Amino acid sequence: VNLRMAREVKHSAGLAGMAPDAPAESYRLGPLEYLRRSVIEVLSKEYGDALPEVVDPMVVFSSRPEFGDFQCNVAMSLARQLKSKPRDVAERLRVGLEQKVAGMCATPLEVAGPGFVNFRLSDGYLASVIRQMMSDPRGKLNVPEPPKLQRIVVDFSSPNIAKEMHVGHLRSTIIGDTLCRVLEYLGHTVIRLNHVGDWGTQFGMLIAYLAEVAPEALTGERPPDLGDLVAFYKQAKKRFDEDPVFQNAARAQVTKLQSGDEASLRAWRLLCELSRREFEKIYQLLDVQLTERGESFYNPYLPDVIERLERKGLVQVDQGALCVFLEGFKNRDGSPQPLIVRKSDGGYMYSTTDLAAILYRVQEDRAQRILYVTDAGQATHFAQVFQVARRAGFFDPAEVSLEHVPFGLVLGDDGKKFKTRSGDTVRLMDLLERAIELARHDLEQRIAEQPGRTESPEYLERAARAIGIGAVKYADLRTTRTADYRFSYEKMLSLNGNTAPYMMYVFTRVSGIARKAAGLPADAEVCMQELVANCASEQQLLLCVTEPAEGALARQLLRFPYVLLDLERELMPHVLCEYLFELSQRFNQFYEHCPVLGAEDDSVRHSRLALCALTGYVVESGLRLLGIEVLPRL
Ligand code: ARG
Repeated sequence: VNLRMAREVKHSAGLAGMAPDAPAESYRLGPLEYLRRSVIEVLSKEYGDALPEVVDPMVVFSSRPEFGDFQCNVAMSLARQLKSKPRDVAERLRVGLEQKVAGMCATPLEVAGPGFVNFRLSDGYLASVIRQMMSDPRGKLNVPEPPKLQRIVVDFSSPNIAKEMHVGHLRSTIIGDTLCRVLEYLGHTVIRLNHVGDWGTQFGMLIAYLAEVAPEALTGERPPDLGDLVAFYKQAKKRFDEDPVFQNAARAQVTKLQSGDEASLRAWRLLCELSRREFEKIYQLLDVQLTERGESFYNPYLPDVIERLERKGLVQVDQGALCVFLEGFKNRDGSPQPLIVRKSDGGYMYSTTDLAAILYRVQEDRAQRILYVTDAGQATHFAQVFQVARRAGFFDPAEVSLEHVPFGLVLGDDGKKFKTRSGDTVRLMDLLERAIELARHDLEQRIAEQPGRTESPEYLERAARAIGIGAVKYADLRTTRTADYRFSYEKMLSLNGNTAPYMMYVFTRVSGIARKAAGLPADAEVCMQELVANCASEQQLLLCVTEPAEGALARQLLRFPYVLLDLERELMPHVLCEYLFELSQRFNQFYEHCPVLGAEDDSVRHSRLALCALTGYVVESGLRLLGIEVLPRL
């Protein structure tokens, strides 16, 4: 009897409906923001006018568990300005903060190292925050609404007509889609724009060539497929480089197209339509939605761009071309580098279109943030365009931010250029289909190894696709965006390691455990969101996080909203992948040390079931944000 009593006492110490003594503000703001504000308040009280005008409170999640849950190193950064020792500033901060964090953090707070203040959340408070995540009526795990909801344009994917979409476009599509999903989740209004390369001199070449060798392709009588089109394009390019007569024909064709010649426009539209159909297949497979607003969309606005640049006195004529001389970009000889905005033949540039697009997105779309997801190779292009747009007053830098979101290269398994065995560029559709095929093979093998397990052809279809596509996406997203990475089917499809199949497996396992603990049938497809909500609404749910493995899991769960806020700012999806992987490891530890079904008593079992359900739901939510579907069985 005594033993049992002791256990109950131990648990109720870490239990909470709500830790009643913790400051109410800390629940409203969440612990991180509450601590940040408290630090500022204490500093102002202690130092008043001696404080600089803006102070970053420098509260962050601790880098190591020994340092508690949060650390503040503002003392080190301010000491000199306050003419004081970091330790002394930290000490005054500690004393002032202690009343503010009563009931929330274990006290006394710790001053450590050269001047850190460390905070450790109390078990009761931790449990309440977890419960709050579970009770979010939006099912959004209590992620705080950003202080300023924005209209955000994400310019991504953006392949080129009559050219095959390549792995660079795949990266752009995958990364861009994830950024959109996260920003939407946080409550922003996101406009997903596909800046398709559907205009330019290549069309003159292509139309002139087709008119010669395959006129039926231009009338739509016998439309070629994209593969043929790409081949035609290559041949046309070759002709263009070799044959001056053909060059003239191609140029004449460009002029005709630009002046709105009906037959040329018809041919152009047809070519665009063919490519579009191919791109659409890929977007469907990837489950990505985009609004197409190609380069040609901005044609009517180009003269206006030039006019505005002229009015600002920014343009000069250089060898017949209109240019803006750039600040901070120098030629080899030290002279300022020009950005050509109109060629001597009157044609406009890729940059001119991007200038028009900025104007349109700011004025018509009322965008406050514009993201451009392209390979790192275009960094200079965007830096230059942004500069000219700023100098021309196309946007107010205080109101609108333009951000290039660059990414690295995809390399082959051998670390060299990503090519097929025969040396050709890899067709995206082939790449995705191969991933699905390999996923299906693995899945069929797993099914065969489990006696009595069968799956319907429909399920096999759905699962292979979810795993194959998920694997390609996850492999891309888990690497630091700006780094190059090696493409390996074997690695990305492995059930071990930081991969999509592994994370999907974690979901099926965790949700399976939760399902069992909740007494649901083994084959039920449980809705995690519902299960979490049910757990949270149960009157007798007393969350308990006293066991170290429970505490470690709860602390990781608590971090989820902050990972998204970090992503909102830094636009680095690998942080979310790392977070999910770490979560899965903490769950494994938890499951090893803290029996769920076999828990000592009902209240502990309830509590652990709730942690399982929440883990499952966080994994599911995280994978969804990465554009990955979860499956009930793997
Ligand atoms: N079509 C371009 C390419 O394939 C990417 C366009 C990126 N977006 C932009 N607004 N420039 O490289």
